[in-house]
Amino acid sequence: MMDQHLHAFEARIAAGEKIEPRDWMPERYRQQLIRMISQHAHSEIVGMLPEGNWITRAPTLRRKMALLAKVQDEAGHGLYLYSAVETLGADREALIQDLLAGKAKYSNVFNYPTLTWADVGVIGWFVDGAAIVNQTMLAKSSYGPYARAMIRICKEEAFHKRQGYEICVTLAQGTPAQRQMLQDAINRWWWPTLMMFGPPDDQSPNSAELLRWKIKRKTNDELRQHFINITVPQVLALGMTLPDPQLRYDEATGNWCIGPIDWDEFWRVIRGYGPCNRERLEARRAAYAEGAWVRAAAQAYARKYATRQTT
Ligand code: 3HC
Repeated sequence: MMDQHLHAFEARIAAGEKIEPRDWMPERYRQQLIRMISQHAHSEIVGMLPEGNWITRAPTLRRKMALLAKVQDEAGHGLYLYSAVETLGADREALIQDLLAGKAKYSNVFNYPTLTWADVGVIGWFVDGAAIVNQTMLAKSSYGPYARAMIRICKEEAFHKRQGYEICVTLAQGTPAQRQMLQDAINRWWWPTLMMFGPPDDQSPNSAELLRWKIKRKTNDELRQHFINITVPQVLALGMTLPDPQLRYDEATGNWCIGPIDWDEFWRVIRGYGPCNRERLEARRAAYAEGAWVRAAAQAYARKYATRQTT
């Protein structure tokens, strides 16, 4: 019987059908999605922290409003994704407790400090730009709720990237000190952004299964290369450089070829030893504690509303 189910499931995947929460799916497929979507949700929530640091210090009201809107969007993305992972039978509270206990992964890139205002621009341009490359691919994922969440998230990411790039254009056209601030931020965020796409394909234990089941539609290296190819010309157009002396354009392939990525740094950061891992988790734990009364009030209201419905 199981073979029949599996055979039918594989045929649906091969036909490009979307798998929905009530459909039969291999337990491994479900577990892989819970792993991936929960980490994605955690990344969105933790990702609010680096930029949130600059909301009170934005240089103009217009910049403050755009940054507020972006950080608020990220919270919404996290909630969509926690809702998407709940369709797989996962317990949201348990996933959040894993994050607070330091047991859950979230994107490496959010474990670096935002030292200047230029970081806010470069994060929008690089990090959200990388997210768009990755999430545009995930919008074609075989799991229906995930793919649909990506469609709305990608629309909002487009604004995030645009507002970030505009900040960078303004700095690039500014004083020498502003140009230097931008160059410094580019130097600090370039390599951690490239690491966002995951380890090289030959060191990616999950990719084969995710690609076979069309959860992922492209490999880590394919997406990383696509991001590099679209971003390097943008950096050069601003008169900025990249912190990679080996960077060169390959006419034959049309690719920008980069120097080696420091994968030791990547594994160190995702194992909890990055510059801001401790600070990020402390901030999440404090926010969770301070929000306890809000959760209690919402649950009390829900109980009261439910009894009102039945009387
Ligand atoms: N940060 C932290 N951990 C990472 C990572 C990263 N950038 N890349 C890979 N890893 C982890 C994986 O989770 C895996 O560990 P696990 O088995 O314990 O979960 C291990 O490293 C090996 O990596 P794999 O390549 O085998 O893992 P995947 O096939 O899952 O690929 C991924 C990793 C590309 C991140 C993929 O999971 C993915 O596309 N996830 C969905 C997108 C996502 O999570 N993006 C995070 C950023 S969200 C964001 O940018 C918000 C925006 O608004 C700014």
